[in-house]
Amino acid sequence: MTTTVTATETDFLEACRVRIEAELRSRLTTSRAGDTLSEAMAYSVLGGGKRIRPALCLGAALAVGQDKDKALVPACAVELIHAYSLIHDDLPAMDDDDLRRGRATTHIAYGEAIAVLAGDALQALAFEWLSESPGLSDNVLLRMIRTLSRASGHSGMVGGQAIDLAAVGQDLAIAELETMHRRKTGALIEASVMLGALTSQHVAQERLEALSDYARALGLAFQVQDDLLDVEGETVVIGKPRGSDAARAKPTYPSLLGVDGARHHLTRLLQDARGSLADFGPEADALREIADFVAARTH
Ligand code: IPE
Ligand code: IPE
Ligand code: MG
Ligand code: MG
Ligand code: MG
Repeated sequence: MTTTVTATETDFLEACRVRIEAELRSRLTTSRAGDTLSEAMAYSVLGGGKRIRPALCLGAALAVGQDKDKALVPACAVELIHAYSLIHDDLPAMDDDDLRRGRATTHIAYGEAIAVLAGDALQALAFEWLSESPGLSDNVLLRMIRTLSRASGHSGMVGGQAIDLAAVGQDLAIAELETMHRRKTGALIEASVMLGALTSQHVAQERLEALSDYARALGLAFQVQDDLLDVEGETVVIGKPRGSDAARAKPTYPSLLGVDGARHHLTRLLQDARGSLADFGPEADALREIADFVAARTH
């Protein structure tokens, strides 16, 4: 299977990135006063990033026949949760990294206390925005809030991060590593897709299940590639310190399967993700494009 990404294949992602960036910027800069906490929040959210999760949310809305604008605010909410997770992930108590998206991590720029609080505030703000998303019924909003809160907390991202910390220096079995990755990274990626799908109330159950299968395979693929980039990437390109996982003795796909084994696994996951969309037509092309990008990305 080819992993080449052409200019046209990344058109959707690039358009989403621009759109999401503008929405995040206007929301974060118009609604908040110029205090240090607000600055740290804006610094963390607006300092680059591929915006994959919001793009998945918009792409899933398209896949269920909706206007992607219906998913715009939910997509921004997911990105706030992601930004908060990165601030906390980089803290000295966790991965202790000083570089993110090519510049100082939030705690280096603003101090640890403000970084912790910026993460906390972004998490709360995500649910505030989500609950006010325009054009969606209260019933849909409630389902979205439930989906995002489950994916963010103990059964999802935060739970996965706890396993990650407990696993330092340990040899995990491959099934345990997969569980950790599914929670710490996969859960939020799956929620991004499901929030987009929930913008329509008329989606057949099989279609929802197919989208969930796509998202589960892609979520795992995303972290496998992240682990590979930690070994093979260039710090200037990935924008975070290469070798951070090895330096902290984190179990990863390359550490368990070797680089070739991890790459082979990634190819299988990409096939699974694309295969889950077999019954969709061109309405799922954006999701196909994102899957190809995730497996081929260099940052
Ligand atoms: C990095 O996520 C953290 C992981 C879950 C592996 P991204 O690679 O999506 O980070 P940005 O948002 O593009 O910087
Ligand atoms: C982070 O995984 C996952 C979350 C932030 C939830 P990593 O620790 O591998 O992410 P990076 O490599 O620092 O971006
Ligand atoms: Mg980490
Ligand atoms: Mg990290
Ligand atoms: Mg990583």
